Amino acid sequence: MMTKKDKHHSKEASSNHSHGMKAKATLDGLLSLLSQSPDKDRERAVYFHTPFCASRCTYCPFYKYTTLKSKGYDKHVIEMNNMLGKMPYIKEQPFEIFFFGGGTPTLLDDSSMKKVLTSFNENYAFADDYEFTVESTVRHLTDSKISLLKAHGVNRISLGIQAFDIKTRRMLGRPSSEELICEVVKKVQDSGMKLSIDLMYGLPGQTTTHFEEQVGKAIDFEPDNISMYRLQLIGDLPIAKMIQKGKLPNLPDKSFIARMQSAGIDVAASQGYTQWNIKNFSREKNAPCRYTQKTIKDRDLIPVGSSAGGKIGDYRLFSQVDYTIFSETLQNGILPYLHCMEKPRTVSETILGILEGMKIDKTALDYFLKSEAVNKSFERLLLEGWLKTFESGMKLTKKGVLEFEQLKHFFE
Ligand SMILES: C[S@@+](CC[C@H](N)C(=O)[O-])C[C@H]1O[C@@H](n2cnc3c(N)ncnc32)[C@H](O)[C@@H]1O
Ligand code: SF4
Repeated sequence: MMTKKDKHHSKEASSNHSHGMKAKATLDGLLSLLSQSPDKDRERAVYFHTPFCASRCTYCPFYKYTTLKSKGYDKHVIEMNNMLGKMPYIKEQPFEIFFFGGGTPTLLDDSSMKKVLTSFNENYAFADDYEFTVESTVRHLTDSKISLLKAHGVNRISLGIQAFDIKTRRMLGRPSSEELICEVVKKVQDSGMKLSIDLMYGLPGQTTTHFEEQVGKAIDFEPDNISMYRLQLIGDLPIAKMIQKGKLPNLPDKSFIARMQSAGIDVAASQGYTQWNIKNFSREKNAPCRYTQKTIKDRDLIPVGSSAGGKIGDYRLFSQVDYTIFSETLQNGILPYLHCMEKPRTVSETILGILEGMKIDKTALDYFLKSEAVNKSFERLLLEGWLKTFESGMKLTKKGVLEFEQLKHFFE
């Protein structure tokens, strides 16, 4: 089934400029790679995507379809797993990391969820110390779902909470109550799975005190990880329209948002949480989310499901976003990937990727500082207080964290 020449694939492979990558990849090259044994030293992850949600949260650019379209999705994911699971590149070595994200994976009904999880278990080998995360909203993480996830090897839940109070939650299109949040969090913790909580800041009308309270409430649960997301208005979001029409207050200005972020960082630090990248805070110093620790370029990431992005060897892969094409391609026995060759990372992208993890070690620094231009950029960053030295390299200061988006201008 994998040896068919697919016109659609070939066409896409040579027209994938929108992703800013070289377009020399051939389907045969990808297939031949999948027929080989993998590189034993390379970290490997599988990313399963569910492009469905029950309804659209007002701020979310990831939303695609409503529940209706999720019918039959289990079959497609299972077909894809079965196809991938036969390839030597996939089956000959265990995977360290599994991430089942979305959308809302827990929207699958219990019977579909069971089949999908069984298919993951059957088609991919799990490394001894694997991490398997599932993203969920509060309301879809039912008791039966928690049991199913746990029984099939899921060991980490990433719960999108965003804010606890009902007024803010309604503005965000997240109707569950704070009581339900408390119940679900407790159940996840009782199950023994790790817990990560997503919060958002920079919301219309939000104050620093409000965000501090949200971080405090999240910390009261003692989750393993907290992710703090600054609201990004990408594309045509309902929340942006509501602001435009005057139905919601304006967004706080930049300096106000920075103050909010700074306050969130301080609350987390005061409660013993370590910031281990720009957005993430972990209770244990050495136990941050492994999925988020590396960028897509630093490991193989096998994309499964519609609308997933990943990488196999030097190939960047994108599974079909259009659900009809995705289903039809699979029905024809073909993996529904668009693919192209990975574009080598620029020096600036590499440095920024490292600094997103808060620090750069001495060995990497010595390597980059051989370039006079990069050397000058680091000197400026030190001088202007974005970075500071420590015994084994340099790390971001609070200013560096708060203005991280501007950091790229130092390396242009
Ligand atoms: C891709 S979503 C999936 C999580 C899951 N569906 C849920 O809602 O709980 C992961 C996280 O991205 C964050 N997010 C979504 N839209 C965002 C936006 N416009 N700006 C910043 N963060 C956003 C939210 O914190 C959300 O929990
Ligand atoms: S935040 Fe989550 S549930 Fe809400 S629309 Fe986005 S992906 Fe769906």
